[in-house]
Amino acid sequence: MDFKYEAAKLIAKAADMEIDEVLGMIEVPANKEMGDYAFPCFKLAKKFRKAPNLIAADICGKLEGSDSFTKIECVAAYINFFTDKSSYAKTVIESVNNAGAKYGESSEGEGKTIVIDYSSPNIAKPFHVGHLRSTVIGSALYNIFEKLGYKCVGINHLGDWGTQFGKLIEAYKLWGSKEAVEEKGISELTRIYVKFHEEAEKDDSLNDRARAWFVKMQDGDEEAISLWKWFYDISIKEFERVYEKLGVKFDYYTGESFYNDKMDAVVEELKAKNLLVESNGAMIVDLEDAKMPPCLILRTDGGTLYATRDITAALYRKKTYDFDKCIYVTAIDQNLHFAQWFKVIEKMGYDWSKDLVHVPFGLVSLEDGKLSTRKGKVVLMEDLLNEAVKKTTGIIDEKNPDLPNKEEVAKQVGIGAVIFDDLYNGRIKDIVFSWDRMLNFDGETGPYVQYTHARACSVLKKAGYDKKAENIDYSVLADDAAADVCKTIALFNDKIKEAANRYEPSVIARYLVDVAQSFNKFYHDNIILADDENVKNARLALVDAVRTVIKSGLAILGIDAPEQM
Ligand code: ARG
Repeated sequence: MDFKYEAAKLIAKAADMEIDEVLGMIEVPANKEMGDYAFPCFKLAKKFRKAPNLIAADICGKLEGSDSFTKIECVAAYINFFTDKSSYAKTVIESVNNAGAKYGESSEGEGKTIVIDYSSPNIAKPFHVGHLRSTVIGSALYNIFEKLGYKCVGINHLGDWGTQFGKLIEAYKLWGSKEAVEEKGISELTRIYVKFHEEAEKDDSLNDRARAWFVKMQDGDEEAISLWKWFYDISIKEFERVYEKLGVKFDYYTGESFYNDKMDAVVEELKAKNLLVESNGAMIVDLEDAKMPPCLILRTDGGTLYATRDITAALYRKKTYDFDKCIYVTAIDQNLHFAQWFKVIEKMGYDWSKDLVHVPFGLVSLEDGKLSTRKGKVVLMEDLLNEAVKKTTGIIDEKNPDLPNKEEVAKQVGIGAVIFDDLYNGRIKDIVFSWDRMLNFDGETGPYVQYTHARACSVLKKAGYDKKAENIDYSVLADDAAADVCKTIALFNDKIKEAANRYEPSVIARYLVDVAQSFNKFYHDNIILADDENVKNARLALVDAVRTVIKSGLAILGIDAPEQM
């Protein structure tokens, strides 16, 4: 926003600092009494070798005047800027309404590429609620970085290779049927896979046969590969149904199997760099100096592992996309795995190991207990999304039975509620799934934010507003509620940057609740369609700006914004 820049310019000149450094230090105080922008001087104590409050007073004494601010004052270690409300409203609202859907964009990422590895479920296994987080967090990060001008590459690193497929083939040979798999898909594959584990407890020879099948897969045996490919296709079809419902996309479905023919070279490279050592017949990279258990590269039977594939994938991605950052979104229980193989990349002498980022998240559990695959208590993503839509349909039938396009809106709101709930919580926090919480239209929820957007749309529609009036008199927006809305919507780009820096989409979700709350206060305090044309036009321009910010913000989170609900 221009005002922040203006304040930074004044400070930079008075304190003889770089403007970018000042910009990074300026805060927006939560308390209105401290002005619209504040510059804290604590961090300068070292540089100027003085107490922060003396520095503040010093800088304040040297500040030039400016038309943008009605008052600039020094309070303790802060310099507070009070903007002229009407010119502030004008600047903010016009910049939103002129930019439209482009509002919030910036060019900081121009020419840089970010690879995002997200969702990445394991084929032939149910797509359960635990996968939801990786999918929606990764997808939101994609949108966040894209908004900042980065080129994003979204990769679904499917778990589609490994000894488990040897087990699945053996299980299918023993107990499977083509018809049942075709009819029931993943759930049938899961059934025979579970049976395999039960039977293998009693008869270890099953494991030998499973290993033999995996060896065949690795050797490209026709039967083994065609069964594997069949399981793969069935799984992808089911996953895609879920992605379609969630509105999630990927640029590439390059799973673990994609690296089959690329791992030998990496193993050779590790050898050549003297990093590979033998340990009980397996090949490992020792990480004792980093105080971590060794990273397993080859099994005793020569088979590769999860880490081998991740190392290979990282080298491939660096070569192919020359990324600025490569981000991995997975549950927190994979922390050690990522720390280990990031270290291996570093030991291989690649300085870009610092650009590999693990973005972990906490567990999802149900109100009545944990989500566990073993005990068979899985909630399938698809069932959950269907349930969300069904419940929302019930709410709409009760609250607004004549709503046109009811089915579509129920999908947008129901699925939006699930996504929003997941993203509203900080990543690391464990989430307990609660329908009542996420579908509450008055809480800090997706439906609440969507409802606020619909409310803005409906006022604009009622006013016959299609584009802003000429010569708007922004001085009529000088009330506190209006000023608060302006201040909030002005923060959009800063919030997107913060979300990117912290890899934390919750920053955007929480911000949208702030926007909605400040708007609802303004809406409550003021008659938008006032008799006075001047007042009405200015208020409508503000409503239009709010509509734009909420819609763009929801789009970042991967949530639709219906105009009526
Ligand atoms: N398939 C793994 C799982 O479900 C997640 C993969 C994450 N990505 C990666 N490059 N390791 O646990």
